[in-house]
Amino acid sequence: SSIQQTYEAEDAEAEGTIVDNKHPGFTGDGFRDYNPNVPGGYIEWTVNLPQEKDYYLVFRYAHAGGSERPAEVRVNGEKMEELPFPPTGDWATWNYQTIHAPLQEGENVIRLTATGAEGGGNIDHLRIQDHPEEGGPEE
Ligand code: GCU
Repeated sequence: SSIQQTYEAEDAEAEGTIVDNKHPGFTGDGFRDYNPNVPGGYIEWTVNLPQEKDYYLVFRYAHAGGSERPAEVRVNGEKMEELPFPPTGDWATWNYQTIHAPLQEGENVIRLTATGAEGGGNIDHLRIQDHPEEGGPEE
């Protein structure tokens, strides 16, 4: 059987962000906007997995900025990688950035920290799944 869980950004812990809903197409009640547009803001999800294995961590986002808005992913405090978050072209056009990373059974803390000069894109949710379909690139 396959595992898939979705955690909304608006329900996560965060610093240097606001919750908004002014651009359509989000899931849940809205999205998080890294605001102000400076590096260092983060969104932090505590997720609960039924077993230890490698998962796809799929971040749904949108931004109509002119350049990449990179963000670093940490899993349980350990740096995984920095994702580029290229422009999606419109604030209401949502796309995905994915990493493949090992998670432990039970609670895991996933932190997404904006590292670029303009801060991060608008983040809708984090989906965790043990199969590569539905949005995430094949890795
Ligand atoms: C616009 C947009 C916001 C976005 C911001 C940004 O103001 O409406 O949703 O977060 O640009 O550049 O980050």
